[in-house]
Amino acid sequence: MSTVGIGLIGCGNRLTEVMARVVQGHEGVRVTALCDVSDDALDLARRRCECPDAVVHQDYRDLINDPSVDWVAVGSWNCFHKEHILAALEAEKHVFSEKPLTINIEDCALLKKAIEEKKLLFSMGFILRYAEFYRRVKALIEDGVIGEIVSFEFNETLDFNHGGYIMQDWRRFRENAGTHLLEKCSHDFDLANWLTGSLPVRTASFGGLSFFTPENAGLINEIEPTEDGVPAYQTWQQMGIYTRANRLNPFTTEKNIIDNQVVILEYANGVRATFHTNLNTAIPERRFYLCGTKGTIRGDVMAGHIEYRRIGFDPGTVHEKTASGGHGGADGILADGIRDSMLNGTVPVVGLEDGVKSAVACFGVDKAMDSGQVVDLRPMWDLVDIQP
Ligand SMILES: NC(=O)c1ccc[n+]([C@@H]2O[C@H](COP(=O)([O-])OP(=O)(O)OC[C@H]3O[C@@H](n4cnc5c(N)ncnc54)[C@H](O)[C@@H]3O)[C@@H](O)[C@H]2O)c1
Repeated sequence: MSTVGIGLIGCGNRLTEVMARVVQGHEGVRVTALCDVSDDALDLARRRCECPDAVVHQDYRDLINDPSVDWVAVGSWNCFHKEHILAALEAEKHVFSEKPLTINIEDCALLKKAIEEKKLLFSMGFILRYAEFYRRVKALIEDGVIGEIVSFEFNETLDFNHGGYIMQDWRRFRENAGTHLLEKCSHDFDLANWLTGSLPVRTASFGGLSFFTPENAGLINEIEPTEDGVPAYQTWQQMGIYTRANRLNPFTTEKNIIDNQVVILEYANGVRATFHTNLNTAIPERRFYLCGTKGTIRGDVMAGHIEYRRIGFDPGTVHEKTASGGHGGADGILADGIRDSMLNGTVPVVGLEDGVKSAVACFGVDKAMDSGQVVDLRPMWDLVDIQP
C-alpha cells in the first residue's frame, strides 16, 4: 500500500496535536512536509508527528506543490485560512482545515465556489461533531424523544485561565482571528445548525469587553497561584506558539474582541434560541437545554452528563454519562475519521459547507452586536448561495 503524504501549514499547538493522533502508529499516513513562520512550531511538529525528515518549505505554495503531499492540513491563524485552503484546492489537493473556515463572508463564498465540481475531500476541524455527547443528543432528537424542537438555550463559558490565554494570544485581535464568537464559538453555532437541521435567519446580540481591562490587572495578585507557582490567568501560557514566545499580561494587552456576549436567534424552521459566552468563569459550561413539543433534553459536555424527560405526569428523568471535557473525548475519534478519509476516501462527516454555515451564522450575530440592530441573515445566506 502506498503512503499518504500530509503537508502541514501552521504547525502550532492544535494542528500538531490532531496530526500526531492521525499518524502515530499508522504506517499508511505520514507527515512529509512542513511550513510555518516559527522555528518552535517546526520543532513541535517534528517531535509530535514523528517526522524528523519532513521537508520544510518557506513558501506554502511550494509545500502544496510538493509531490510528496497528497493532503494539505491547515492550522495557521484564521486570517490565513482562505489563502492556504484556496491554493490547496487549486492544486487539486485534499484538505483538512481547522475552524473557522475564514474570517469574512466574501472568502466563504469564494471557497464554496472553489470546491464545487472538484472531486476533492475536505474535512473541517469541528471536533465536537465527533464527540459521543453530541452524537447522543442528535440521536435522541432524531428518535423523537422530545418531539419537534421549539426553543433552546446553549452556551460556552470559559475557565478564567482559558480566557486569560485568549486575551494574551494572537486571537485577541479580530484582524488575526475574526471575532471571539467566530474563533471560539463557531463550534457551538455549527452544532446548533446541525441539531436543529436549520439555519438562523434573524438575530440580535449585545457584547463587550467588561473584565479583561487594565483596571482589573491587580486581580491576578488577589488569587493564590497554583502549587507550582503559576499565577492565575496564566496556566494556559504554554499552550500556543505565540503565548509561549510573548508571555503577556491578559489584562493590560491591547485587544479588540469582547469578553462576554449574549445572543438571541430565530431559525428558518421557526425554532428560537439564546446563546451566552463569557471568558472569565469559575464554573465553565458548554451546555444545551432543548425544549421540544414532547420533552426536554439538558446536557453539559464539560460534565459529560445528559438528562432527558418526556412531557407527562410521571415519566421519570433519564440520566446518561458520556465522555466529558472541553472536547468531549473526541480527539481520537476525529483523528480516526481524518485517517479513514486519507486512506479510504471516506467523505468526512463535517465538510466545507458546514464551515460556511457556521461562519455565516457568526458573521450575522456579530453584525447585530456591532450595529445594535436586529439583523436579517437571509441576504447573507444569498451571498453564499445557501437556502436557509
Ligand atoms: N478544533 C479545535 O478544537 C481547535 C482548538 C484550538 C485551535 N483551533 C484552531 O487551530 C488554528 C491554530 O490555533 P492554535 O491554537 O494551534 O494556535 P498556535 O498559535 O499554537 O498555532 C498557529 C501556528 O500558525 C503559524 N502561522 C501563522 N501564520 C502563518 C502563516 N502565514 N504561514 C504559516 N504558518 C503560520 C504560527 O506560527 C503558529 O505556529 C486556529 O485556526 C484555531 O482556531 C482549533
